[in-house]
Amino acid sequence: MKRVTKAVFPAAGMGTRFLPATKANPKEMLPIVDKPLIQYAAEEAVAAGITDLIFIIGRTKRAIADHFDKAYELEMELEMKGKTQALEQLRGMLPAHVNCIYIRQAEALGLGHAVLCAEPAVNGEPFVVILADDLIDAEPGVTRQMCDLYDYYQCSVVGVQPVAREETTAYGIVAGDPMSDRLLRMTHIVEKPKPAEAPSNLGVVGRYVLTPRIFHHLRHIGRGAGGELQLTDGIQAMLREQQVLAYRYDGIRYDCGSKVGYLKATVEYAFKHPEVSEEFSAYLKQRLCAPE
Ligand code: G1P
Repeated sequence: MKRVTKAVFPAAGMGTRFLPATKANPKEMLPIVDKPLIQYAAEEAVAAGITDLIFIIGRTKRAIADHFDKAYELEMELEMKGKTQALEQLRGMLPAHVNCIYIRQAEALGLGHAVLCAEPAVNGEPFVVILADDLIDAEPGVTRQMCDLYDYYQCSVVGVQPVAREETTAYGIVAGDPMSDRLLRMTHIVEKPKPAEAPSNLGVVGRYVLTPRIFHHLRHIGRGAGGELQLTDGIQAMLREQQVLAYRYDGIRYDCGSKVGYLKATVEYAFKHPEVSEEFSAYLKQRLCAPE
């Protein structure tokens, strides 16, 4: 049985909710404590056994490729200064057996289009899509949880979580027949419906395992919500011929595409960070007890 070995990271969006921070820098490079979002996403993929990381990048996204390249000068300088810990951290960012592939999306036509750009590198295999601005704290990681489901059911799996009714306009919303506590056989998926039109309160978060058949459907969809080519519409078309599962994953998700979500993630990850947790917790406690 073929394991899933390829992950696609769409990273060509405009990051409008984070301007001006994202004017010259991709939102996927925003750090949570000391690691950019894209690195958390890459590590989650590698922990699931993924060996090919396919980044779909656009304007202002060169920093992503630079981030995963070897930085010879920096490494030499750290070595000369005897900063071994920092050096080890840099060298251990990605294991040697992992390949990075970069594909330019010349126009930001939507998530569906970004995923379609990955087709030549996906090579007709099942693959994972990870949206790095959905940071999910989970053990094992959500990508691992979903690849395990793929191994068992051999069909596409979409990660979902309950969302507030008034927030359905920010998500792909699914409906389906329950199979177990956390799994539904999807019957319907719609991009960003109004609360009154949403088929449920289960929203898609940025994790998908897809069969390569999705590319056929992405080639045929028209512009959808927001005038964009939507991955959601491709999945809805695929549903008619293949089973797709919705999986209520086990983990805590931070919407790092929004300012408040990003700040929450920063606080939670700082609490867990061995270098800063103690000092940061003390500061926060003091700050909350004695507000200005
Ligand atoms: C995208 C998808 C949407 C999904 C969301 C999760 O929307 O189109 O279906 O629910 O990611 O974060 P975006 O947030 O890019 O507008």
